[in-house]
Amino acid sequence: MLDENELPKKWYNILPDLPKPLPPPINPVTREPLKPDDLKPIFPSELIRQEVSADRWIPIPSEVLEVYLMWRPTPMFRALGLEKTIKTPAKIFYKYEGVSPTGSHKPNTAVAQAYYNLKEGVRRLTTETGAGQWGSALAFSTNLFGLKSTIYMVRVSYYQKPYRRVLMETWGAEVIPSPSDRTRAGKSILERDPDNPGSLGIAISEAVEDAVTHEDTKYSLGSVLNHVLLHQTIVGLEAKIQMEYVEEYPDVVIGCVGGGSNFAGIFFPFYYDKVSGRAPKQVEFLAVEPTASPSLTKGQYMYDHGDTAGLTPLLAMYTLGHDYIPPPIHAGGLRYHGAAPSLSLLVRKGLVKSVAYNQVEVFEAAVLFARTEGILPAPESAHAVKAAIDIAVEAKRKGEEVVVLFNLSGHGLLDLKAYEEFLANKLQPYEYPETNVKESIKKLLAEYPWLRKIGF
Ligand SMILES: Cc1ncc(COP(=O)(O)O)c(C=O)c1O
Repeated sequence: MLDENELPKKWYNILPDLPKPLPPPINPVTREPLKPDDLKPIFPSELIRQEVSADRWIPIPSEVLEVYLMWRPTPMFRALGLEKTIKTPAKIFYKYEGVSPTGSHKPNTAVAQAYYNLKEGVRRLTTETGAGQWGSALAFSTNLFGLKSTIYMVRVSYYQKPYRRVLMETWGAEVIPSPSDRTRAGKSILERDPDNPGSLGIAISEAVEDAVTHEDTKYSLGSVLNHVLLHQTIVGLEAKIQMEYVEEYPDVVIGCVGGGSNFAGIFFPFYYDKVSGRAPKQVEFLAVEPTASPSLTKGQYMYDHGDTAGLTPLLAMYTLGHDYIPPPIHAGGLRYHGAAPSLSLLVRKGLVKSVAYNQVEVFEAAVLFARTEGILPAPESAHAVKAAIDIAVEAKRKGEEVVVLFNLSGHGLLDLKAYEEFLANKLQPYEYPETNVKESIKKLLAEYPWLRKIGF
């Protein structure tokens, strides 16, 4: 545990430390790089400034720090029970973000985003949510700052995870199953496919459309963009101090990846050590994703939309193609076709490794973790648990004392249905076929043939 007065007062911005500048987002209509002002209809100025900032350290406003103190600094644990059970010489540490009021890392950015929007006179925020973790974080934060929120929730999760909806409504949010008939994007999908289960990409389209068509409303994104990842670095900055206290330094830092924010949050500050020559030893970074949504391991590095309807700018990232319809796996927050541009660039440059697991092996790991450490991981976070266990088992085979640090990004106490199905042997492994990715990319290039010229 850290003392409250050890809470970091600045976020770490990775942009000046990337191996090369990020390819700029592109406006699909003009085919020109996006100008910061183009983002004004959806984001407040301060978040746009942070999105492109070249400052390495960005001060955290005192109003945001005050809210962080409700649950921060978060604890870092050594997984002694798990180590003992596996009989590994590895030392496994995890940073536990499940102690936040909403049960995950998501309020680290939701609080900051609600605060900056309030300061610039915004009255309502819209967003998308998959499993409901991000939606509940935004509902919690808008409520604290007296803003309204409208949350488009992926339809399959809306029905599979009713308790997260109740949580969001308790904090005063309006929650709508997506695709919905509230927006043109939603309506056109429902006309073609009335039983569409929804996806994060579709829900983003709806939330963005709602924001740009209402004066007092802006949009809030729970991952992917630079400013979101920036706010999450509070996790890794705390973890670095905690590692110093126990006189250890990780050989490998692990996180699960949906859009990339919790993983970036824990590893970016260690990446800073590495590129600035401050790391006391070699440190590696490992992204973990589901085989059902394998953007980093099977996707293509190219420009694609962040949403399904093609409303958002084109981002240079690993993508499965924006028409990806995810299989209904339980890690709802990981079912996204793309990944953060900054993380994608680091994967592309070989500075971050990635691995994919199916949900059956992930839940096996989650149950082992619950039985040895007591905490029930969120299905998303359980991907990181699985990777940590694999490394610890390998360390045992080799007799190596590897130091592992992973982000336990949330608890799974509202995901018991998933655990119930796993315990009843009802979960299926699922591999997203490579042919689907190729098809989607072919369609994208047919729609925007000029992308070939920019190609990577
Ligand atoms: C607990 C938890 N972990 C991880 C994620 C994945 O998002 P990201 O990659 O942005 O951290 C989510 C998304 O909803 C989540 O709820």
